[in-house]
Amino acid sequence: MSLTDLFMSHDGNISHKWEHYLKIYEMELGLLVARGQPLNLLEIGIQNGGSLQIWAKYLPPGSNIIGIDINDDCLKINQNGFHIFIGDATDSVFLNNILKDMSFDIIIDDGSHISNDVIRTFTNLFQRLNPSGKYIIEDLHCSYLAKFQGGFQQEGSSIELLKLLIDSLNYDYFRDSVSQEENKFFDFYNRNIGRISFYDSIAVIEKYQNIKKRKFSTILAGNNAPVYELYLYIPRQFAIANKINFQKIRDNLIKKFKCEIADIERQLHDKNNEIAEKDETIEYLINSKSWKYTKPFRLMKRFLKISDL
Ligand SMILES: C[S@@+](CC[C@H](N)C(=O)[O-])C[C@H]1O[C@@H](n2cnc3c(N)ncnc32)[C@H](O)[C@@H]1O
Repeated sequence: MSLTDLFMSHDGNISHKWEHYLKIYEMELGLLVARGQPLNLLEIGIQNGGSLQIWAKYLPPGSNIIGIDINDDCLKINQNGFHIFIGDATDSVFLNNILKDMSFDIIIDDGSHISNDVIRTFTNLFQRLNPSGKYIIEDLHCSYLAKFQGGFQQEGSSIELLKLLIDSLNYDYFRDSVSQEENKFFDFYNRNIGRISFYDSIAVIEKYQNIKKRKFSTILAGNNAPVYELYLYIPRQFAIANKINFQKIRDNLIKKFKCEIADIERQLHDKNNEIAEKDETIEYLINSKSWKYTKPFRLMKRFLKISDL
């Protein structure tokens, strides 16, 4: 059953979501869920426990579902199909105590939505995300509201952290522009984050399946470059691994360069002829007697601006 159908037909504890979140969750988690393998899900913010009950119905059998809430009233909820822990998700000591070496395919932050909490929870938990796992932050509109430590382009707000994570995706192209401290941040997330999707009020941060170990290279297909020569840009190792025909590219290049050289030689020859002709005229004028005798008239013409001498 789709998440939307499960949510709409749910008659257990209340879950409180924005209407468009359901489709986003289906898009983001649909493939993972369709594989049918058990998943590990951690949700920060339990409240009435409705969302945990729905996750328990949506995820494949055998999945491990954990909810964390700061409010110990949540212990009243019947833990059927999930586990509840009480504590502060911004507290790394608490998290390490309860989660031990657990890691997750899906982490959802639906906690306080206060910017500081969102950021600290993310920095605490991102490392517990499995390869290809998704870290989902709900209700990011709070990042624009003062009572959640937010505001438009407000320094320190949760959405501003996410904007830095976008920069980290592209860190290989500005590595020289940051301090050592900033380097640690950008380098870590550059190697770990493969994708960030932004929606209205929700962001999904996806981990690479394999940690990125080096700057990506460009790759080429084909052997001919009649317009723009890209030969020099191919990393040689890559070209060999991908059986790019270097010999053919080289031969084509040499042919092209030879044509260009022949063309330049032709132009050079024409220019030399022009120069030779001009030299002859100059020689003739220097030795011409009439040219010498008419010199005063030419000077006068220039002085009087007489046009027809
Ligand atoms: C929006 S509700 C969660 C709703 C629930 N996920 C659902 O979909 O029905 C937010 C919950 O986060 C809890 N919370 C707030 N700050 C927290 C923190 N620092 N650590 C853990 N839980 C927190 C609150 O007690 C509250 O129950």
